[in-house]
Amino acid sequence: MKDQSQTEGVLSIERTGRIGGFEAGRLAYGCWRFAGSTVSEATRKIEAALEIGANLLDTAAIYGFGDQGFGAAEAVLGDVYAAQSGLRDRTVLVTKAGIHPPVPYDSRASNLIESCEASLARLRTDAIDVFLIHRPDLLASFEEVAAALTKLRADGKVRAAGVSNFTHTQVRALQSKLDFPLVATQPEFSPLAIAPLEDGTLDVAQEFDMATMAWSPLGGGRLTGAHHPDAGTQEARVLAVLDGIATREGVGVDHVALAWVLAHPANVFALIGTQNVGRIRESAKAFDVSLSRQDWYDVLVAARGAPMP
Ligand SMILES: NC(=O)c1ccc[n+]([C@@H]2O[C@H](COP(=O)([O-])OP(=O)(O)OC[C@H]3O[C@@H](n4cnc5c(N)ncnc54)[C@H](OP(=O)(O)O)[C@@H]3O)[C@@H](O)[C@H]2O)c1
Repeated sequence: MKDQSQTEGVLSIERTGRIGGFEAGRLAYGCWRFAGSTVSEATRKIEAALEIGANLLDTAAIYGFGDQGFGAAEAVLGDVYAAQSGLRDRTVLVTKAGIHPPVPYDSRASNLIESCEASLARLRTDAIDVFLIHRPDLLASFEEVAAALTKLRADGKVRAAGVSNFTHTQVRALQSKLDFPLVATQPEFSPLAIAPLEDGTLDVAQEFDMATMAWSPLGGGRLTGAHHPDAGTQEARVLAVLDGIATREGVGVDHVALAWVLAHPANVFALIGTQNVGRIRESAKAFDVSLSRQDWYDVLVAARGAPMP
């Protein structure tokens, strides 16, 4: 017997999924904009995230760079962990290394290992659940990167590893030098950033059973209804389609954008970045959106600005 989703063409969006050995909510909480929060503000944000099942927390060594400073976002999260016993174990902790901001990128083994150790200290934890190379360093051999990840994993400092902003060929090259699987790739992916659909990023994620962590799923705030783009731009076209679906579904355009990202079959997790506690909670409305295949392609065609071939 066909299930309802097949007969009606409604795309299924699971609330949880797997990243390597971890189970996590498909809505995840990104801590890029977190630096500068007080511990009590930050705690409220993390609690709101956990309330909606967003137990995967994504941070990076460089978050805070430019304002509070390199490492500042990790330090805030470390303070939140330290203030609440047992909290760390309720989260899947992802951090990243390999950038001296803004450049150079630096994936020399010594830098990855030192950066990981500094992250552990700031985050006040013994191990990172999923450690990502933040951006591909074109001067580091895949063999050297693999050696660093292998050592960090053997030493128990990271439980699993992945990449961010890697091309599919870079993923394959790094994987070929490892004797354990990369568990995650983290590209920018949203109705305004559709390249991963066609450049192999989401294909290699499925090939290697990786999780896809979509960064800036709301286009960094452009897919929220707060922006009013010029007519004829990609943003205006996409917002018009999202708005129609949002009105029909009784939710915000941001919730439809999240549902669109999560509906792709590449084991997608959406990293929401709002610092507003109410909006964190409201993000769960993404799971209430009934998105048909027609809706999904309508958004894609609007993003492309051209019909499908
Ligand atoms: N790997 C990488 O290279 C990379 C790069 C960038 C980001 N990331 C990850 O992705 C995460 C998310 O990125 P992001 O923060 O750009 O995500 P996002 O969710 O696309 O955008 C968040 C922004 O949208 C605004 N926003 C959200 N809902 C809104 C609403 N209803 N009305 C008005 N404004 C709204 C937020 O403002 P308010 O705070 O005021 O709500 C915030 O400024 C980061 O925290 C980080 O973990 C990774």
